[in-house]
Amino acid sequence: MSAADAFYVTTPIYYVNDAPHIGHAYTTLACDTIARFARLGGRRVRFLTGTDEHGQKVEKAASEAKMAPQAFTDEVSERFRDLARRMRITNDDFIRTTEPRHRIGVQALWRELVARDQIYLGTYAGWYSVRDESFYAESELIDGKAPTGAPVEWVEEPSYFFRLRAWQQPLLELYEAQPDFILPASRRNEVVSFVRGGLQDLSVSRTSFAWGVPVPDDPEHVVYVWLDALTNYMTALGYPDRDGEAYRTFWPADVHVVGKDILRFHAVFWPAFLLAAGLEPPRRIFAHGWWTNEGQKISKSLGNVIDPIELIETYGLDQTRYFLLREVPFGNDGDFSRAAMVRRMNRDLANDYGNLVQRVLSMIQRNCDGRVPEPDELGAPDRALLDASAALLARVRDAMAVQALSRALEAIFEVIGAANRYVDAQAPWALRKSDPKRMATVLFALADTIRRIALLTQAFMPDASARILDQLAVPDEARTLDCLDGAGVLRPGTRLPSPVGVFPRLIQPQGHAETDAIGAAALALKSSTSS
Ligand code: MSP
Repeated sequence: MSAADAFYVTTPIYYVNDAPHIGHAYTTLACDTIARFARLGGRRVRFLTGTDEHGQKVEKAASEAKMAPQAFTDEVSERFRDLARRMRITNDDFIRTTEPRHRIGVQALWRELVARDQIYLGTYAGWYSVRDESFYAESELIDGKAPTGAPVEWVEEPSYFFRLRAWQQPLLELYEAQPDFILPASRRNEVVSFVRGGLQDLSVSRTSFAWGVPVPDDPEHVVYVWLDALTNYMTALGYPDRDGEAYRTFWPADVHVVGKDILRFHAVFWPAFLLAAGLEPPRRIFAHGWWTNEGQKISKSLGNVIDPIELIETYGLDQTRYFLLREVPFGNDGDFSRAAMVRRMNRDLANDYGNLVQRVLSMIQRNCDGRVPEPDELGAPDRALLDASAALLARVRDAMAVQALSRALEAIFEVIGAANRYVDAQAPWALRKSDPKRMATVLFALADTIRRIALLTQAFMPDASARILDQLAVPDEARTLDCLDGAGVLRPGTRLPSPVGVFPRLIQPQGHAETDAIGAAALALKSSTSS
């Protein structure tokens, strides 16, 4: 049982057969947001990512690059670490399956399964897809291909098998006992009906190539790459040392975030391995959807791969995070387009959030001597705004408890919209002469609402939110979620620095519709931010 305030979130470990792309960046950014939010809420967080370096697919990529597998994986794995640094990801650890700490753990889990009579020797004769690193039954093939469209090859070799069949009932009981074990719910139903349909024993070793963890006491075999890879979630906590601090604190994991394509491995095989070894399964598997690019499947052969570094450099890191997490409900598929990206940036960030902050802070600077104004008695509209911003915490927490990232952002942006309407309705600029006390009250209500909003957007847009909180002179220790109310409320009289814009607007050439001039606009932004 993990410690009560502990929170452990993981990304899949990425295959090092190729450079990182938007799909990898997406999962990692979502997990980073989940981890940051848990930290802001006072949890002890462990956030793990890493690389999956064994198996036939990686071996093949290394040989195509005319490199030894280890040298090749060293190089590609470094590109994933580099991407994490550039995206300012707050992972606490980065695991590579070629590390000794991992190999030791995989072999220990294997021995445990053997000791419990969960593994036996046989022969595998069937289809295998190197691209998916997955075995397929004849009945699953569609037009001679894997259901994923990946090519398959016939494999016949001695192999160890895991008694997966025996775990059908315990798995169904697990899904029943933990209704949120698989999220979103639609995915849960898919998995449940797959398991209900019956399970076959699973081949868990390979003999026709050598790039993997050797099977203990039978080094002709290497451990099947998925059994090897899944174990990373525990080896990074020091498994097989179950008495160690990390394992005791953080296992079972709170959530493994994965793409929908690898849900079965995580929601069926992984808990079965764990139950069979007498270990606790994770608390949740969350499966997110896939991105297409302007309506097309993203693939190297189509030449439409989206480079996350290019996105960040063109639009900004916080903007990219916001777009990816807001554009589609987490769990659904989404379509990336530059037009949609620019629309979100200009409308939500520049016009709504940015403009709110900018106009309120400049009014305070100009009219309140650059200090947090002293509120007078609050009226109904002031209270309504402050109540709505105070109520956000519970709404955002509820959404985040089920990884509903876009729902959390929608709730926050609803209050941003309400605050903008409140500015228009109260027209504080017109109160300057007629009723300065009332003006101070309105600006105070707005400033404190912005503070709450910025506290909540920290997990999503860390840099922009920090800059807003700096402009409100919010001390570092008052930036956690328990400071939303009470001691955290702005103190009248506090001096504020001069306001500076946080969310740039993409400049569009005259006379063009917003969506027409995306490329030019992106370039304009690039040159305006880099000068
Ligand atoms: N190595 C395995 C995972 C092992 S975890 C124990 C693997 N690696 S991967 O590099 O191929 O994929 C990693 C993740 O990227 C998957 O969750 C996958 O869903 C995600 N994506 C790959 N392309 C994607 C999109 N186009 N859109 C969104 N995510 C996608 O699988």
